[in-house]
Amino acid sequence: MARRRQVYEGKAKILFEGPEPGTLVQYFKDDATAFNAQKKGTITGKGVLNNRISEYLMTRLSEIGVPNHFIRRLNMREQLIREVEIIPLEVVVRNVAAGSLSKRLGIEEGTRLPRSIIEFYYKNDQLGDPMVSEEHITCFGWASTQDIDDIVALTLRVNDFLSGLFLGVGITLVDFKLEFGRLWENEDMRIVLADEISPDNCRLWDAKTGEKMDKDRFRRDLGQVEEAYQEVARRLGILPEAGVRDLKGPETVQ
Ligand code: TMP
Repeated sequence: MARRRQVYEGKAKILFEGPEPGTLVQYFKDDATAFNAQKKGTITGKGVLNNRISEYLMTRLSEIGVPNHFIRRLNMREQLIREVEIIPLEVVVRNVAAGSLSKRLGIEEGTRLPRSIIEFYYKNDQLGDPMVSEEHITCFGWASTQDIDDIVALTLRVNDFLSGLFLGVGITLVDFKLEFGRLWENEDMRIVLADEISPDNCRLWDAKTGEKMDKDRFRRDLGQVEEAYQEVARRLGILPEAGVRDLKGPETVQ
């Protein structure tokens, strides 16, 4: 297949110029990194699974009126998205204590939080994505107060909806990270959900056993990483029909 012009390469994805102005092709790699790329590896089939899982979740979110950049899946590893101006923030939502929150504040992993918490991190690899407050965000012009209000409102809706959706398939949505972008339509700007939603940027625990079904299996060397991602897709009812064989199949076949 003729390669399009590459616009950006991240740790887990590549963006190519799309077929029409204002669109991009988002390609999902099998590469995995953790701890700001200090740990690197490959999770076979991850790109295929994340492409599917993100397609599914973004589509469900569109249906409840959460605007996002997803247009359609093109093939096993690529999806067509709207080009947006990414807001340089990682928006983390937590329902249960885990990861950096547990470490920083000494709260035992697995403790259900009295209410959901939203945290902002400045998206900057050189600085290791430091946590920032709304004061920093407005002071340095990364987003306006109105933008932050829109981001928080969308994030809470995403959290409510995804928590219910995952619980319905026996999974606790512990925490996750979202990214947002500005979409310009003539003179009007609106904030839409961007990036991906997948086991790479969510903590997903089996509701009964507490077993981890997300990237923490890679971060913490727990093994069975591919299997965990596959299980998430299976429970959502979207595992590629041919099963595992399909994951290594031709990249451009639908
Ligand atoms: P944390 O506990 O390490 O701060 O992570 C919180 C959530 O955000 C967790 O679901 C993983 C996700 N996350 C990312 O998607 N990218 C990142 O760079 C980090 C640090 C976390």
